[in-house]
Amino acid sequence: MTTRYRVEYALKTHRRDQLIEWIKGLLAVPFVICSQPTGVFETRCGTVEEMAQEAHRRYAEVMQDVEDMIDDHIAHQQVGLHGQSKLKLLVPSVGIFFTRLPLAAAFKSQDKKRFISSRRFVPPSFNDIRLILNTAQLMGVCAGGPLELATFDGDVTLYDDGKSLEPSNRVIKRLINLMEHGTRIGIVTAAGYTEAEKYYGRLHGLLEAIKSSKVLTPAQKQNIVIMGGESNFLFTYDHTSPYLLAHLPRRNWILPSMSTWSQPTITALLDVAEASLRDCIHNLDLAATILRKERAVGIIPTFPGYHFPRESLEETVLVVQKKLEMSEVGKLLPFCAFNGGNDVFVDIGDKSWGVLVCQKFFGSGGDEDGDSIRGERTLHVGDQFLSAGSNDFKARVVGTTAWIASPTETIELLDELGDMIAFNKKRSEGTTVMVT
Ligand code: IMP
Ligand code: MG
Repeated sequence: MTTRYRVEYALKTHRRDQLIEWIKGLLAVPFVICSQPTGVFETRCGTVEEMAQEAHRRYAEVMQDVEDMIDDHIAHQQVGLHGQSKLKLLVPSVGIFFTRLPLAAAFKSQDKKRFISSRRFVPPSFNDIRLILNTAQLMGVCAGGPLELATFDGDVTLYDDGKSLEPSNRVIKRLINLMEHGTRIGIVTAAGYTEAEKYYGRLHGLLEAIKSSKVLTPAQKQNIVIMGGESNFLFTYDHTSPYLLAHLPRRNWILPSMSTWSQPTITALLDVAEASLRDCIHNLDLAATILRKERAVGIIPTFPGYHFPRESLEETVLVVQKKLEMSEVGKLLPFCAFNGGNDVFVDIGDKSWGVLVCQKFFGSGGDEDGDSIRGERTLHVGDQFLSAGSNDFKARVVGTTAWIASPTETIELLDELGDMIAFNKKRSEGTTVMVT
């Protein structure tokens, strides 16, 4: 039983996204039926165009069926019965959908770029479906009106792991374009520093571009915040400061339910986490150094250039997470244990709180959801969405999300979003012209 538990759960489930795997399974059937691998050496199978047309039709039908099932789940959600939807029975891990997901249209759009239906040997993959879901999410958000808040993870999403946002980064232009269209930006990163200088070091390309921008009005330049340490340190843009950022005292922005996060509880939680990290260093013989901060504790490589085995990082996250979940203090405070690629950190709070703070900060003030920007008008973009040990995953409960795998994918996603915003703008201008 122990072995089966470890194989089935601990070593596998945390590395799977059940919804994506399920859709992949559904698409495998039309792939087997429609694809013609022998067409590579035989001519009687018809042309690749004919095969692709039929595969496209069948894949689109499946995606339409899934879209309908999500609509049914949303209908259940609206009357408080989402636990009873057919989708929930088939994919028990699905949570809340903030918008519809037009999956059939999103599939057609991605098929034009990725030629999924033209493939004879490689079935629709995890990445194909992840990207279709991203497109569907953008379509779903844009169908409901302007995107009010876009939050971004830092490492792997805006820049390569451990690097900085340099002035040459092509994402800068896209972020400024969003700000110009009235979308508020939050950089919600695990990187936890108390000093503006450190964030300037990581984000200087963007901050300097905002400062020198001629297209952004002074008011639009205020439409960005940096939320560091998941949900612990808030900085606003300030052109008078040497590092272009002002640190906002916590009392000015915390949510009412965060006021119970007392220092003794925080210290106690970090103590349990630190002890557990030390055990892992010993048991797995890791060349690791403990880094204890005000609101986080982590392990980093002791030697520059040293890489932890991926399995050791995952084992460490799962051990520390379990240890904290079982502890008394772990029930008093939200925390996030995650694998950062070549480190493991435990942070106080998590990105759901970080995004909530941005929603409230840019909303018209007030309580935790009353006057905040709503989940369906919010999009969080990040790279860590597997269920355990992934910090962006937590943002799913407070807004829509897009799961990217590299900074290049973020740029592609923002281009897609930019096109949709421009299309909506043109359409609304067209309507105005017709009415007047
Ligand atoms: P993110 O991808 O922007 O959320 O940043 C995650 C990375 O920030 C981690 O992998 C760490 O390398 C780094 N980091 C620096 N300080 C902290 C901290 O206090 N908590 C968590 N991660 C940190
Ligand atoms: Mg990241």
